[in-house]
Amino acid sequence: MNTKGKVTGIIANLVVAEVDGPVSQNEICFVTQGETRLMAEVIKITGKRAFVQVFESTRGLKTGDPVEFEGHLLEVTLGPGILSSIYDGLQNNLKTMDGVFLKRGDYTAPLDESKEWNFTPLALVGDRVKAGSWLGEVVENSLPHKIMVPFKFKGDFTIKSIVPAGAYTINNVIAVVSDGNADHEITMVQKWPVKLPVTCYRNKPRPFRIMETGVRIFDTFNPMAEGGTGFIPGPFGSGKTVLQHALAKQADADIIIMAACGERANEVVEIFVEFPELNDPRTGRKLMERTIIVCNTSNMPVAAREASVYTAMTLGEYYRAMGLKVLLLADSTSRWAQALREMSNRLEELPGADAFPMDLSAIISNFYSRAGYVELDNGNSGSVTFIGTVSPAGGNLKEPVTESTKKVARCFYALAQSRADSKRYPAVDPVDSYSKYLEYPEIQDYLNQTVEENWPLRVAESKNIILKGREAAEQINILGDDGVPVEYHDRFWKSELIDFAILQQDAFDKIDASTPIERQKYMLGLALDICRRQPQFDNYEKCAAYYKNLINVLKQLNYSEFRSEKFREYETVIAQQQAQN
Ligand SMILES: Nc1ncnc2c1ncn2[C@@H]1O[C@H](COP(=O)(O)OP(=O)(O)O)[C@@H](O)[C@H]1O
Ligand SMILES: [Mg+2]
Repeated sequence: MNTKGKVTGIIANLVVAEVDGPVSQNEICFVTQGETRLMAEVIKITGKRAFVQVFESTRGLKTGDPVEFEGHLLEVTLGPGILSSIYDGLQNNLKTMDGVFLKRGDYTAPLDESKEWNFTPLALVGDRVKAGSWLGEVVENSLPHKIMVPFKFKGDFTIKSIVPAGAYTINNVIAVVSDGNADHEITMVQKWPVKLPVTCYRNKPRPFRIMETGVRIFDTFNPMAEGGTGFIPGPFGSGKTVLQHALAKQADADIIIMAACGERANEVVEIFVEFPELNDPRTGRKLMERTIIVCNTSNMPVAAREASVYTAMTLGEYYRAMGLKVLLLADSTSRWAQALREMSNRLEELPGADAFPMDLSAIISNFYSRAGYVELDNGNSGSVTFIGTVSPAGGNLKEPVTESTKKVARCFYALAQSRADSKRYPAVDPVDSYSKYLEYPEIQDYLNQTVEENWPLRVAESKNIILKGREAAEQINILGDDGVPVEYHDRFWKSELIDFAILQQDAFDKIDASTPIERQKYMLGLALDICRRQPQFDNYEKCAAYYKNLINVLKQLNYSEFRSEKFREYETVIAQQQAQN
């Protein structure tokens, strides 16, 4: 018998209920108003009172309305058919609806229950299995989708029966396993509470190889690791969304999950329209085939917004357990933190900095720690790489969400207003940003072996050129063009050359948008070769003219097909210009 209750108080989406039995923290319940059942989550319990956060508008709800507790936490449904879906934070399938928004009290089935999948068994009767073990496989949008022993199964089991290859729906029993005492039926679908990490793996070593993204300021300058974490703080209009979309399109991942949380409604509608149109450079088909979108806008209720990032992370962990590389992108995590703040304020909790919950840092850190590279029990590996954007009010990087995130995320891609204003895209600040993975010996080894010997040293050299250029620019600003030795101008222009040739990248150009690592290696080599020379100039104007010419050609190079005839012509021009000095 599930616990029941009655509404005794309503404060916006927060409902207080008197309950007649046990209730657990984060348990799901339904508040019933006439014909409409509104889903809610328990967020605080004191004695016989449960405080529940309704995922929808509580308009018209009254005291005395019944509440039914479900006896489980907020769960996500896992099984074939998730790819290509557009869900809200509660895994309602938005594509099956007419508009973006569901009617109040409507919850849709997250997966198609009538579709038949061609199942191929991967395990045999008698095999010992446990949570996460692969029992079989179906093909989901041309990707292998493993059917696993449900994550909730505790202990070891023996397979008593498994169906032969054939077509089955997600609710058909495909295997029966025994724990020695009782038999358990397994279908292709399982549920998992979104706020708990899935831990069906043997080992979670720290990341040791990079995830190529085709974005030079990432790969060359501050690489993201496969299974790593990073964040992109930046003021409104600085290019966070464009950058995340570039990563979604180009990163070396099997599955892309976009958690669009709480940005303006029209932006989410844009994702709806834009994403399904995108072509997949990896397969030549649609990117949406290996994408899942979880979205909430700021006009959706606060608890649904809070849930969305967890739903997205759980989906990521599910595909990771199949041995796939998942890239999870969240835009923006600030909206998620604001949802946390609204909820905490309604509960009249003692507020922390800027009225965020006291445990904001712990919440963010727990969330980021769910990402990672894992070695599965069967010897395969999988990963969830997480990159979130943060939109700090007024671009203030000292605010709590940015500071808490900085403590846990290993990569920091700070978007600078000044760079966005001067159209230096992506506006990632090359001096403030960092990738801690560059300091890992295993990543350095990886780069030395896969890119080229001494690559990390070359990256450090180019960063130093940027730094020296910035110092020189400051001196030139203070003392005037003629007030400094020509050598200062030389330093400044060398940093501009790295900036224009390597850091700046046009996300909307067919060729420039994505640079394979081989080509990044070539470009950095070329730029460094120019920067290592020390041509002598009579005056700063000649110095500026020399580098401006080179920068122009290097930009043309970035816009040309690698090693094409055009490309070779530009190479020749560069060689000639260098020879003249
Ligand atoms: N890499 C880029 N290449 C070209 N234009 C860019 C790039 N990044 C951003 N922009 C420009 O900046 C605008 C704002 O970017 P957007 O990602 O929407 O900002 P944010 O999400 O930070 O508010 C874009 O519409 C685009 O015109
Ligand atoms: Mg944006």
